[in-house]
Amino acid sequence: MHLSTLTAALASAAAFTLTEAASKKASRTFGTLSFGGGKELSRCRLDPIVNPGGVASHMHSIFGGNAFSDSMPGDAAEKASCTTANVKNDHSNYWVPTLYFKSPENGTLYPVELFYAKVYYFFEATNDDIKPFPKGFRMLAGDASLRSPPNPAKNNLDPSKGTVTPVQWTCPRSSQDSNTPLYPPSSDGTAGVGVQDPSNGGQGWGFPDKECNGFASPLRADIHFPSCYNPNVSPENYKENNAYPSSNGMGGQDCPPGWVHVPHIFMEVYWNTLKFHDMWKQGQGYQPWVLANGDETGYSLHADFINGWDTKTLAYLIDNCDPGHAGLASCPGLPGGQTSEEEMKSCKLSCPLPEGSDVFGQPLPDNKLFGHNDLSGYQAGPYVAAGGSSPSKAQPPAAPRPVAAQNSAPVNADITDAQPTGASSPSASAYPSPAPTSVPEADPVGEPQGQAHEHTKYATSVRLHTVVKTITVDAGTPIVVAAAAKTAAAKKACRTRRPSRKSHRHHRAGGY
Ligand SMILES: *[C@@H]1O[C@H](CO)[C@@H](O)[C@H](O)[C@H]1NC(C)=O
Repeated sequence: MHLSTLTAALASAAAFTLTEAASKKASRTFGTLSFGGGKELSRCRLDPIVNPGGVASHMHSIFGGNAFSDSMPGDAAEKASCTTANVKNDHSNYWVPTLYFKSPENGTLYPVELFYAKVYYFFEATNDDIKPFPKGFRMLAGDASLRSPPNPAKNNLDPSKGTVTPVQWTCPRSSQDSNTPLYPPSSDGTAGVGVQDPSNGGQGWGFPDKECNGFASPLRADIHFPSCYNPNVSPENYKENNAYPSSNGMGGQDCPPGWVHVPHIFMEVYWNTLKFHDMWKQGQGYQPWVLANGDETGYSLHADFINGWDTKTLAYLIDNCDPGHAGLASCPGLPGGQTSEEEMKSCKLSCPLPEGSDVFGQPLPDNKLFGHNDLSGYQAGPYVAAGGSSPSKAQPPAAPRPVAAQNSAPVNADITDAQPTGASSPSASAYPSPAPTSVPEADPVGEPQGQAHEHTKYATSVRLHTVVKTITVDAGTPIVVAAAAKTAAAKKACRTRRPSRKSHRHHRAGGY
């Protein structure tokens, strides 16, 4: 080889390194979307995606625009005249199965009130151009038929690295309670309680048997939606039009060739489980929660989305905004502006079905779930089936599992949440040293027993004092690096977290 050729080769190698070392969009940007009043638009047994024109099999907690109905062809969602989302031009609908409490004493079923729900819009590091959802686009995340834990029980959103695990339960706990594992260390997830996420002490699959009593953070459902859209398939073909992106080896994640990269929606739904504090005993290897579809395990957690965005508004947010926890609504120049608190609260939809909705504080009629779904999943006592078919029987011995390492760094978690900055911050004490990418959030939205308007007021005041800055490493995972008004404990937690974050970069090269 001539020297000049070699030089040229070296130069091009160097250029290659420079241009190819990172994804075209080098880091994740994101913003949150909140729902006004902290409550649902409606509770109703409708599902325009899975049961268009009919009645759904189970009760849903629905958020977003008031065009929600049993049938929503095409861009019907966009026609809403109001929305519970705090970005006025988002008329999308988001919904999840409603949560119920089943008394361990007598099997009585009670609806659990929503505490708060919030949606993250992640614009990931990628070589793709991230685009708004096409009109009429709809999708599901999670699997309503599951009654068993993921195998392996591993946090993963990358289909090239094995089974995708898009849903989890997060259970923030007070500092004194968090010294014990969230799930029984011996639980394999088949006998009355879920299974620990080995990468995060505060999360797992299936319902935990502990009380989630972290500051302003009861039991939380976490759902990641797919973020790749196949333009060769109808936007309404929710079974075939979507996929999760894969790591591109450059710290980002790309969609399959020819597919369109859309925002990564991550939904957090907090349920007001503390209201049942006196009605069950925690840490017994059994848990009292039931999903609306009758699932007593929690593995079937899922969520639905129908796009109702004004396309230009979402494009604007994707291209111009990175407000993080300050929220998409705070983005300067936001087309259409914010939805006022009054507008969000007054945007309601009464369920048109004769059966109506849940009544809080009262047992379900005839002690049956809406839709009369049988209870399914754990066949273990002491929870005698209520209106269901599960016989009470002794708990089979569970296979021993490694004890959940509450302080171990996550392998694959991908979410960073803002840390509350108040003295009662659970993150400071409950999770002293896990890497920050998966510290369960204590969303500062109010006190569990408070009124909706108090939540909002409180949220506003807390947020004013919360200053977070995000940086990005490797997989485009934002990391909270600074928060104003930290307590000494929070500062200490921050210090202890840093080393694990550093040592972790290494392992996480290439993304999750
Ligand atoms: C069932 O048990 C719960 C406690 O878990 C109790 O509050 C309720 O009153 C009981 N209902 C009946 C009908 O006994």
